[in-house]
Amino acid sequence: MAAVPGIDPSRVPAHVAIVMDGNGRWATKRGLRRTDGHAAGEEALFDTVEGALELGIKWLTVYAFSTENWKRPPDEVRFLMGFNESILLRRRDEMHERDVRMRFIGRRDWRVPRRLIKRMDEAVELTRNNRTMTFTIAFNYGGRAEIVDAVRKIVEAGIPANKITERTIRQFLYDPEMPDPDVMIRTSGEFRISNYLLWELAYSELVFTDTLWPDFRREHLFAAVRDYQSRERRFGGIGNDVG
Ligand code: IPE
Ligand code: IPE
Ligand code: MG
Repeated sequence: MAAVPGIDPSRVPAHVAIVMDGNGRWATKRGLRRTDGHAAGEEALFDTVEGALELGIKWLTVYAFSTENWKRPPDEVRFLMGFNESILLRRRDEMHERDVRMRFIGRRDWRVPRRLIKRMDEAVELTRNNRTMTFTIAFNYGGRAEIVDAVRKIVEAGIPANKITERTIRQFLYDPEMPDPDVMIRTSGEFRISNYLLWELAYSELVFTDTLWPDFRREHLFAAVRDYQSRERRFGGIGNDVG
């Protein structure tokens, strides 16, 4: 692991979650189509993955398509489905070589093309024993849908009401092994969660940047980690400074 200036290697966040936002605006500003912005986001994503590996981050989760993104024009949705499928094909070997384990969270409903589901399964299978970092792609993901799906599974499992705790709910989320994010980064100057990881973000530090996603590079990730390391996390207590 290379030392990155200004970052304390002993306090690197274990889990970084990112809302990759601003592709459409990036493209529109340049007189391009919105879909060109999505395409330009690929370099941002894989440079960020490299940066996360450099820092020794163990979990990286990115929001690629929300349960609300189906509202977009059919051409854009179709582009995103095909584009994500081709990314998986083109990048899976590279992820595997870097010992990255790929996972997906989200609903696998009829709207997600079968071919894309097949690529997801292939990427998960290929990389399942990798240990350096878990790279999770939230696709057709919604935080509320995730909680609804967890409740359904809990009921189906016949767990009695008085046995349900926060831990039970955690165990029935899409990936029970995934730790809560330490930090959530959102690009493009929007200050909202947009239905991302609602349960998991309860105590995450939030970092917002004006950078549009296609312009994001590992240096921006490093800056967000420095910002994170300057924060004092209290989890409802009184922290280290007081008392
Ligand atoms: C994020 O960029 C990518 C997806 C939501 C799929 P946007 O497409 O939301 O870009 P803006 O927010 O319109 O600029
Ligand atoms: C959140 O971005 C979803 C993804 C980045 C995949 P949106 O662009 O869809 O969010 P809103 O509509 O601005 O809240
Ligand atoms: Mg957006």
